[in-house]
Amino acid sequence: MFPNGLDERCLVIVYFPFNVLPIGNIELLFRLSLFILNILILCEFTKKLTTHKIFLYFDGGHSPKFIFFSYFYLFYDIIVQSLLTFPIIFCKFEIYIKFTYNNYCILCSMRKRIILINGSPRTNGNTMAALKEMSSVFNDLGIEVKIVGIGKQAMQGCIACGWCERMGRCTFHDNVYDELFDLMKEGFDALVLASPVYFGGPNGTLCALMDRVCYSLKRFMQFKPAAAIAVCRRGGASAALERMNNYFSMTNMPIASSQYINIIYGHTPGQVAQDEEGLQTMRTLAKNIAWMINKLNDDEHPELERPVRTSFVR
Ligand SMILES: Cc1cc2nc3c(=O)[nH]c(=O)nc-3n(C[C@H](O)[C@H](O)[C@H](O)COP(=O)(O)O)c2cc1C
Repeated sequence: MFPNGLDERCLVIVYFPFNVLPIGNIELLFRLSLFILNILILCEFTKKLTTHKIFLYFDGGHSPKFIFFSYFYLFYDIIVQSLLTFPIIFCKFEIYIKFTYNNYCILCSMRKRIILINGSPRTNGNTMAALKEMSSVFNDLGIEVKIVGIGKQAMQGCIACGWCERMGRCTFHDNVYDELFDLMKEGFDALVLASPVYFGGPNGTLCALMDRVCYSLKRFMQFKPAAAIAVCRRGGASAALERMNNYFSMTNMPIASSQYINIIYGHTPGQVAQDEEGLQTMRTLAKNIAWMINKLNDDEHPELERPVRTSFVR
C-alpha cells in the first residue's frame, strides 16, 4: 500500500467516507474532529517536512457507489478548509494528488533527501559514476537525491573571519556554497562526500568548500548520517578518507559504513565500472545510509553540552 518514498515516519490520515455514516450529529462531530485534526497535523507536519513535495492519496472507499460523494467531502474537508485556513503553508509546497478507491487512506509523505557532493571537477568522471551507483539504490528506495558538483571554478577557502558565527552563513558567496546552504536549510537526511584522490588526499577545492560549509552550517548537519568515499587510481585513499571523515566527526554526524572501506578504483573516466567490488561497496553503503536515516530520529538526539575549547597552549 505504501508507494515509494513513504515509510514509518510518514503521516497517515485515515479518511472515513462520511456518506456511509449516519447523517446527523455523528457526521458533524466527525467532520469537526477531522477538520481540527487537519489543522494540528498541518502545523506539526510543516515543522518536520524535509521536502517541498506533499503527496496526497485520495481514496473513495471500497464501494464505487460512494466514490463521488467521498471525493466531494474529502475535497471540501482537506483541501478547501485547509487551504482557506493555511494559504501560506500551502504556497510553500508542490502538491501531488492521486485518486484511488481500493483503500481508504490519504497519505502525506515526508520524502527523505540525501545530498551527494561530487568533489571532482569532472562532471562525468569516476567520482560521479560511484555516486550514480549509490543514487540508483537511493532512487529504488524512494529517497530523493541531490547531487552538488564542486565544478571547475576556483573555490574560496575559509579566512577565519568569524562572520559565520555572527551571521549564520559564510561571508563569501559562490554557486556551490549557496546551493548547499539552500539545500541544507530546506532540510536533508544524510550527506555523502565523494572525492578523487589527489596526492594522497581529497581534492583541495573540496576541502576549501567543506571548511567553510562545516564551520558555518554545522547546525543543519549535526545528527545526520554521513559518509565519505574516495576514488583513486592506485593509492592514498585511506588518508583522503580520514581527512573527509573529520568533517563528520567534528560536527556530530554519525558515520555510515559499508562492507569494506569506501574506496573505488579507476583512472580514466568510466574505469570504475570495472571495479566490481568497489561498486558493490558503494551500493551497500547506500543501503546502510538509507537504513540509518530510517532508524535515527532527529527529535531524539542527545542533548549537547556547551562546547569547551582548550588548546595545548593554555
Ligand atoms: C592532481 C591529481 C593527483 C592525483 N593523485 C592521485 C593519487 O595520489 N593517488 C591515486 O591513486 N590517484 C591519483 N590521481 C588519479 C585520480 O584520483 C583518478 O584518476 C580518479 O579516478 C579521478 O576521478 P574523477 O574521474 O572523478 O575526476 C590524481 C589525479 C590528479 C588529477
